[in-house]
Amino acid sequence: MTNPFPQDFLWGVATAGHQVEGNNVNSDTWFLEHLPGTIFAEPSGDAVDHYHRYREDIALIAGLGFTSYRFSLEWARIEPAEGHFSVAALDHYRHVLEACVELGLTPVVTFHHFTSPLWLLRSGGWEDSRTPELFARYCDRVMAHLGDLIGVACTLNEPNLPYLLRELGIPGGSQESRIGNPMWEAAGQRLGLSADRVASFQFAASEESFNVRLAAHRAGRDAIKARRPELQVGWTLANSDIQAVDGGQEHADRVRREVNERFLEASRGDDFVGVQTYGRTVFGPDGLAPAPAGAATNQMGEEIYPQALEATIREAARIAEIPVIVTENGLATEDDAQRVAYLEAAVDGVASCLADGIDVRGYIAWTAFDNYEWIFGYGPKFGLIAVDLATQQRTPKPSAYWLGRQAQAQLVPTA
Ligand code: BGC
Repeated sequence: MTNPFPQDFLWGVATAGHQVEGNNVNSDTWFLEHLPGTIFAEPSGDAVDHYHRYREDIALIAGLGFTSYRFSLEWARIEPAEGHFSVAALDHYRHVLEACVELGLTPVVTFHHFTSPLWLLRSGGWEDSRTPELFARYCDRVMAHLGDLIGVACTLNEPNLPYLLRELGIPGGSQESRIGNPMWEAAGQRLGLSADRVASFQFAASEESFNVRLAAHRAGRDAIKARRPELQVGWTLANSDIQAVDGGQEHADRVRREVNERFLEASRGDDFVGVQTYGRTVFGPDGLAPAPAGAATNQMGEEIYPQALEATIREAARIAEIPVIVTENGLATEDDAQRVAYLEAAVDGVASCLADGIDVRGYIAWTAFDNYEWIFGYGPKFGLIAVDLATQQRTPKPSAYWLGRQAQAQLVPTA
């Protein structure tokens, strides 16, 4: 079979600051993790101490054969108090970028991956009309300090996720669902806000928040482009393959419109859109349909369905009409052979999109290391590299070697 992958295709693994760095103490998420009644299974603590171990981590990733590393900057470290920028934190990220460049990895940099500074939450967070300009100011400072080393820029990570979580019944999405919820009430009390006004990026799914997200993305993109017009800029979306079984069509159409399509339409005019897919969400006559009988499931109990990636790349390319980078795709499992099979099927899906002429520019797996999976804590294992949390010892799994070899060979299995 002819290799459909272009030579400059990005083969990578991804992380996000809060999930790997450790001690992100000025962030809103750290604050939520430590509240009475928190919905987080455990606090993030030291995470995998990537803040200090980034150099050996990046060397490990490069040594496995990858050509790209996607990571995020922590706004809470860079601007720990409103208007006060930390040159030390910016220097830190400059060293991270230098390590990528020295080791031959294209750095794909996310400016905002779920976490914000706590002060932003206090000032109205992701439902406040001032947030886009504050985000743009932060992007400008980052670009002034680091812009020359960034390979690809992602503004916001998964601005559409809360709208999917709301459909799945996770508390905090709608303003009403925060009222009476112990964690949101405790947050409101400490911040001097009513619980319904506590708008963290990961959970707030109101219409106000949609407008704030869109404006922040655009203002951030313009700030980045003002410093480096040729830098490729986009946002990255949570693209579930939304399907219906008999009786669920209307529901599926509504959710697909709300969660996928309007965000893809809003991406038109960007340089690329990041597609992040884990599986499918199926609706039936009674709402969410259960996984088909006998289907293999991941550690969260969801059906393992790697075919979703191909479908969502096609959906994204059709609606957004711009190039696609797969910025996340992966599986939570203790069984790494299952992960290899999943990655293989997903990469086959990418190859088939490329063969049909769809402009896909990279495949970046989630995630480099077993890490802090947000409200689920350290239980789910998405990593291609295992980490012993007691010793911080890293051990690549067979899936890391498998995908690294794909990167080197730029070939996909024909089976
Ligand atoms: C996020 C990651 C997360 C992953 C697995 C995506 O929603 O961007 O931060 O760990 O999915 O759930």
